[in-house]
Amino acid sequence: MNVRDDNVSEETKKLISSLPTYKDSLGKLCKYQGCWYYYNTLQAVINFQNNFRPQNNDIILASFPKSGTTWLKALTVALLERSKHDHDDPLNHHPLLSDNPHGIVPTLEIDMYLKSSTPDLTKLSSSSSPRLFSTHMPLHTVKEGLKDSPCKIVYVCRNAKDALISRWHFKCKCQKQDDVSRSSLESMFESFCSGVSFYGPIWDHALSYWRGSLENPKNVLFMRYEELKTEPRAQLKRLAEFLGCPFTEEEEESGLVEKILELCSFDNLSGLEVNKTGKTSLNIDRDSFFRKGEVGDWKNYLTPEMESKIDMIIDQELKGSGLTF
Ligand code: A3P
Repeated sequence: MNVRDDNVSEETKKLISSLPTYKDSLGKLCKYQGCWYYYNTLQAVINFQNNFRPQNNDIILASFPKSGTTWLKALTVALLERSKHDHDDPLNHHPLLSDNPHGIVPTLEIDMYLKSSTPDLTKLSSSSSPRLFSTHMPLHTVKEGLKDSPCKIVYVCRNAKDALISRWHFKCKCQKQDDVSRSSLESMFESFCSGVSFYGPIWDHALSYWRGSLENPKNVLFMRYEELKTEPRAQLKRLAEFLGCPFTEEEEESGLVEKILELCSFDNLSGLEVNKTGKTSLNIDRDSFFRKGEVGDWKNYLTPEMESKIDMIIDQELKGSGLTF
């Protein structure tokens, strides 16, 4: 698998020539607005920034890759869809039963602006209002495309070591490497720690949304994968309140919170035919988005030296921010 860079415009090539660049095993990366992108993704980011026309009630689901994006997409779709279903049978004929969360919620710079600088947004599968999008761009970069629109943005943050291990497995699976070799983990670990990796550095990524959520809590919600695991009920209600669709007493009494959590649970989603077979728009097997869904799996892969190195870097980079992860 190689990242192509043949859709990059002359203007973007000129911009790239002024940016820090790096080459890894998948392709060429450059650092734009503090974040590393493969060249074709940078073109998509610029297409988005120049051409996206936000609507005030758009919802953006943001994350560093492998941090629980699929789960957040499913939960948000389930929350917004609930008003369209009979309260006695609210989850029947649900879109999550017939499409993968990534098919329902497109990623701005991957599914939409990678192939076209002006994609047709009227053809979204979540065509109703509000429109739902996702992104892996850091907040300041997203904001340029949103102009001054008061869109709601939800960020899901995950422990960096778990995000790293998840990324490593994902990459091995995408490259059809059955043998998840130690050497490929070691080289990914080094680039992750140096910050020079796709969408990295992870600490700057999380910090952009952390600060955004402190400055503007009505528009930016900072969630954590680990909290979704330990207190799913409270976190789902928090998400619903932030999105302006809190659960009514009647809904709570009918067990709707639990029904949504069950629908979006790892076991349920990963067992659905629609998530076990087929591919996403980028030709990635849909089942690649479901592996273990656990907290702390990094302990099975990282040595104590690796653990202390990454912890030290993250502590240092987050110092004084109030953020830990
Ligand atoms: P693991 O590789 O640690 O299992 P993303 O959706 O951002 O690509 O993140 C993928 C990670 O989220 C994978 O982590 C995947 O297993 C996990 N995941 C996917 N769906 C989930 C769900 N419904 N509940 C909990 N974790 C989930």
